[in-house]
Amino acid sequence: MSESNHLPSSADLAGKTVVVIGASSGQGLAVSRAASEIGATVVMASRTASKLEAAVKTVGSGARGVATNMLDPTSITALFDDVGELDHLVVTAVADEVKNRSRFVDMTDEIATRSLDKFWGSFFASRAAAPRIRPGGSITLTSSIAAFDPPADGGFAMMNAASAAVATLGRSLAAELKPIRVNVIAPGVVDSGVWDSMSDTERDGFRSGYGSSLPVGHLGRPEELAAAFLYMMTNTYTTGSVLPVDGGALLT
Ligand SMILES: NC(=O)c1ccc[n+]([C@@H]2O[C@H](COP(=O)([O-])OP(=O)(O)OC[C@H]3O[C@@H](n4cnc5c(N)ncnc54)[C@H](OP(=O)(O)O)[C@@H]3O)[C@@H](O)[C@H]2O)c1
Repeated sequence: MSESNHLPSSADLAGKTVVVIGASSGQGLAVSRAASEIGATVVMASRTASKLEAAVKTVGSGARGVATNMLDPTSITALFDDVGELDHLVVTAVADEVKNRSRFVDMTDEIATRSLDKFWGSFFASRAAAPRIRPGGSITLTSSIAAFDPPADGGFAMMNAASAAVATLGRSLAAELKPIRVNVIAPGVVDSGVWDSMSDTERDGFRSGYGSSLPVGHLGRPEELAAAFLYMMTNTYTTGSVLPVDGGALLT
């Protein structure tokens, strides 16, 4: 980035390698598209090979896919051995988040453990990537505003704890891995794959009900989040930040 221009431009990511884990859907797919559009070589990683292949086809020619399970250290090592050196790592992956909902006193060990997946994925990915990140590079992890303002209707205590753990991991890594910059996005509700288990009617109701109750009047769009991830990658004075991108939900 030139010193006189604080807006991300093609010059910021041209020739850079960006690895996105969680890239076949939602925010990860939107980040992959946005980074590719401004000149990055994007390595798109996510779990299901067929879904990833279809997603890669929707991104520019500078993208390729590597099927990866972020919860399997061997798979993560294979990803970064394949990539070699990189400039920016983005982790957005999460699995079956809404299905993990459970009243706390009834929560099984299995659901509690699964709820922490995104924390462990962030750990495995950051640990493998850090030694390969070139000077000027960054890591951006994904938390949730629920880490700070848990929903009143409950059921996600362990997932909220995982989001808080991701936020604290990111800030700790910003201190320990410097000069690599490490930041965290804390999304509010985003209209993405997380909500795919809803029926069309439920989802429309969610959009018009919760969405229109937000100060911005709509649910988050993946591309609105992608702009925040690009900011974290390209703003050379930002590290250790946890940025809510939530349509004003924390105000309500
Ligand atoms: N959407 C929201 O309302 C919302 C709100 C607050 C916070 N967030 C946070 O935002 C982040 C991104 O969510 P999103 O909305 O983009 O979700 P999404 O559309 O459901 O996408 C999730 C992605 O993660 C991948 N994935 C799941 N398990 C994986 C694994 N073990 N290894 C590698 N990839 C895996 C999925 O691929 P497969 O389909 O192949 O598994 C998919 O590409 C998450 O951290 C989530 O907690 C979302």
